[in-house]
Amino acid sequence: MEKNSLKFIISLYKKHSILFVFALIGSVLEAGALSGFVYILKNVIDDIFVEKNYNKLILIISILISLAIFKQIGFFLKNYLYPVIILKIIRELREKIYKNILEAEISYLNRLSIGEIVSRATNDIERFSIMLSSLGTNVITETLTIIGIIGLLIYTDWKLFLIFVIVIPFLALVLNHFGEKRKKYAKLVQESLAEFTSHLSQILNGLETVKLFKKEVFQRIFNKLNQKLFQREVKSRLYETVYLSSVEIIAYIGVVGIISYGGYRVIKGEITAGQFFSFLGGVLVLVNSMQILQRGLVNLKGITPIIERLQTLLNIPKEKGGTKPFKSLKKEITYQNAYVKIGDREILNNINLKIRKGEKVAIIGLSGSGKTTLVKLLPRLIKDYDGKILIDETELTKFEISSLRERFGVLSQEVFIFNDTVRNNLLIAKPNAKEEELFEALKKAKAEFIFKLPEGLDTKLGEKGSVLSGGERQRLALARLFLKNPEILIIDEGTSALDVETEEKVAKELIKSFKDKTVLMITHRLSLLNVVDRVIVMENGKIVEEGRVKELKLRNGLLNRFLQISKEIEN
Ligand SMILES: Nc1ncnc2c1ncn2[C@@H]1O[C@H](COP(=O)(O)OP(=O)(O)OP(=O)(O)O)[C@@H](O)[C@H]1O
Ligand SMILES: [Mg+2]
Repeated sequence: MEKNSLKFIISLYKKHSILFVFALIGSVLEAGALSGFVYILKNVIDDIFVEKNYNKLILIISILISLAIFKQIGFFLKNYLYPVIILKIIRELREKIYKNILEAEISYLNRLSIGEIVSRATNDIERFSIMLSSLGTNVITETLTIIGIIGLLIYTDWKLFLIFVIVIPFLALVLNHFGEKRKKYAKLVQESLAEFTSHLSQILNGLETVKLFKKEVFQRIFNKLNQKLFQREVKSRLYETVYLSSVEIIAYIGVVGIISYGGYRVIKGEITAGQFFSFLGGVLVLVNSMQILQRGLVNLKGITPIIERLQTLLNIPKEKGGTKPFKSLKKEITYQNAYVKIGDREILNNINLKIRKGEKVAIIGLSGSGKTTLVKLLPRLIKDYDGKILIDETELTKFEISSLRERFGVLSQEVFIFNDTVRNNLLIAKPNAKEEELFEALKKAKAEFIFKLPEGLDTKLGEKGSVLSGGERQRLALARLFLKNPEILIIDEGTSALDVETEEKVAKELIKSFKDKTVLMITHRLSLLNVVDRVIVMENGKIVEEGRVKELKLRNGLLNRFLQISKEIEN
């Protein structure tokens, strides 16, 4: 194990050092009692069977009973406490990772894939926990047992022990060789299983597409995967069996060697029968412990990459913001020579713009002109910009991010609905909202369809709100916004999935409800321009026109061109 991994593991256990000490006592008791059993075997044979001493029988039986009690206490401490420590560690890791994800820099998370993050936070944690349990219950306990038994063997008969020492390297070689093979195929089986799962989930996700193509094509792909999985599993079984059987063969050879040489020494009177059996028993315990230890160590082999992967989740950079709490917008938001660059591209180019408190501003422009980027800067969903963006007199970056976001409401085209009830989806916006408030928000958002659902507010919405239509999802999200009642509202085509009539109704309701709030509304629907105070027209990252709708209509500018095109389409 590498230094970094060891350090990491120690840092995790440190917090639970008291429990760990008790678990360790368990290991010591177990290993000690086991060695004791082996040792006492000599007396059982020499004192009871050979000497036939009645008093010693009683003594030996009381020693055996005490050893059994110690062993069980040890077993309980070890078997219960190591896992409990691990459960605690895993709970802490999960908590930390979840918190890190919530507080993460968005751009950093975007660089990792969602699948990767999820797999690290679930599979890697699970595997890490299995590895840790093998460390405690197997590696530590068996190492102690091995030390105890070897000491005992040497003490009992060091000459006989030499025989055993000769066998050990062979045993290690065989265990290693077949162990690796066994592991390789186990891994291949896992890979095949993953392919299998991924294929199945693809089919299920794209079921409609699949149905439109020939079934046989998919069946063939599936059969191939299935066959591959089968073959790997069979191979894996084979190596598992070969491994186990070779271990047994070597053990036989060792035992035969010990019986031959040991028997010879007993006959010559150099050791007693008791010593011989005690030795043999010790060897059996030793082989068993070595096997468990070896398996434990093999399990630990892959721990370093897993720890490294977990560490990336544990060290996710936090979002960096300012320290000044954002109370409220007093006067205006100002963009001064603001630029946003991604690589060499200027997504926003020298933006100069003032938005007064309470103003309702529409932003229009062709797709890709930078509208979303412009507004996402404010709640700091996009972080990097050059130039100045001021809220009243303070630079945006000076504000503490969470207090800033609390005052913002964003409704975009892509609505996120959690796989939960309508009620819980609404309560995200206002955890202590009363029933009437929920109803009112839904009404304002023209989301009365919720009341017609059989279970009303308690209806489960399915994954990503799949139970609802696009427009219904948007209205639900809008209701969420009414509950949040933000000071600055950003609508990024947030009502675009509604029919024209409903969209206009909703927009009017919005402007009415947020009368004294600041509203920025990105829209492709020009009829909505009637409800706002001012229009901003964007092109290629620049603001190319700006003013009251009436004024812009008089000019022969971009807005007029848009209006003309939409009129032509209508006709
Ligand atoms: N993370 C990013 N990486 C690279 N380019 C980006 C990124 N985000 C946005 N862009 C680019 O910036 C430009 C402006 O994007 P933006 O989303 O602001 O446009 P928009 O005006 O909102 O368009 P639409 O009307 O289609 O929503 C686009 O050309 C887009 O490809
Ligand atoms: Mg956009």
